[in-house]
Amino acid sequence: MDAFEQEMCQKIGVKHAAALVSGTAALHLSLLMLGVEAGDKVLCTDLTFAATANVITYLGATPIFIDSNQSTWNMDPELLLDELEACPHRGKLPKAIIVVDIYGQCADYNAIIEVCSRYGIPIIEDAAEALGATYKGISAGQFGAMGVFSFNGNKIITTSGGGMLVSDNEEYINRARFLSTQARDPAPHYEHSNIGYNYRLSNLLAAVGRGQLERLDEKVARKRAINQFYRRTLENLPGIEFMPEASYGKSNCWLTVILITPEKFGADREVVRLALEAENIESRPIMNPMHMQPVFKGCRVCGGKISEDLFIRGLCLPSGTQMTQEDLDRVATAIQSCYRGFKTRDIQPIAIYTKPYS
Ligand SMILES: Cc1ncc(COP(=O)(O)O)c(C=O)c1O
Repeated sequence: MDAFEQEMCQKIGVKHAAALVSGTAALHLSLLMLGVEAGDKVLCTDLTFAATANVITYLGATPIFIDSNQSTWNMDPELLLDELEACPHRGKLPKAIIVVDIYGQCADYNAIIEVCSRYGIPIIEDAAEALGATYKGISAGQFGAMGVFSFNGNKIITTSGGGMLVSDNEEYINRARFLSTQARDPAPHYEHSNIGYNYRLSNLLAAVGRGQLERLDEKVARKRAINQFYRRTLENLPGIEFMPEASYGKSNCWLTVILITPEKFGADREVVRLALEAENIESRPIMNPMHMQPVFKGCRVCGGKISEDLFIRGLCLPSGTQMTQEDLDRVATAIQSCYRGFKTRDIQPIAIYTKPYS
């Protein structure tokens, strides 16, 4: 476990790390470290997996969702600024913010950090999907008071289930470790002055994590090659756009995600998803934003139209590093076959429409 934590620190460039049973556990502890409690508000990326927002409610706090911008699909720093400017007029400021690096691409941290530091709001970076990505040459996970990674089965490296909380602040990590092992006071008998959790990763899974971490660069390279293949093969089809890669960083391309505009492509993303399913190819709509989830009904959302549109048009393509060239060709051909009137031999001439990434 110690070695896994140290190797993660070296890889990411942070000083301290605590290996935990999941990314969700790491997010939960990070909010505890910042003193989030019942009645508080916590800002949160709208386009994310539910775990990011769920942990806010574990503590009796309320999420406020911030929409994405079109150019990165991550939290829009301008909407964040609008919300923080409005907050003092509506009552107290949010206690913290969880910024997600969606689908392996870092959010725009220069802008987000600038806004948050103006209001003294501590950042938690949910880099669950972004291990191996960089922002201006700096590794994902370094941009908040704490960073969170997931080693869930579907992530770029996995321990079957697992997570890591990282920070340059030793106190946060020591306290997180203490709480993650049932908050047992240093006494020969069992004594507890705090409520603890059973959140520590096992040594056995840490050993798996070390083996996986050695191959991270290779996996990122493979994910990016898969992304490049899909781009080369599908980008010129009318009505297909790819998740933009922001010029400020390098995505780990955890998943390759496309947008399908039915008016131009001649089929919507659900038609394409079902066509793939008929070929025994699993794909998935992109995340349904948090403000659309029944469980978060009534929570405040700033914006919301961008994430709704991404959900309606977005499809995550099979992106596993084990995929062979034959697998990739099969996926691409199945998507091409959905295009109105498309014949495989016609692929070259159809370079009519590509939407600029902005
Ligand atoms: C953005 C995001 N945050 C948090 C999590 C939660 O991580 P875990 O499944 O390890 O609890 C996940 C994925 O599972 C995720 O994609």
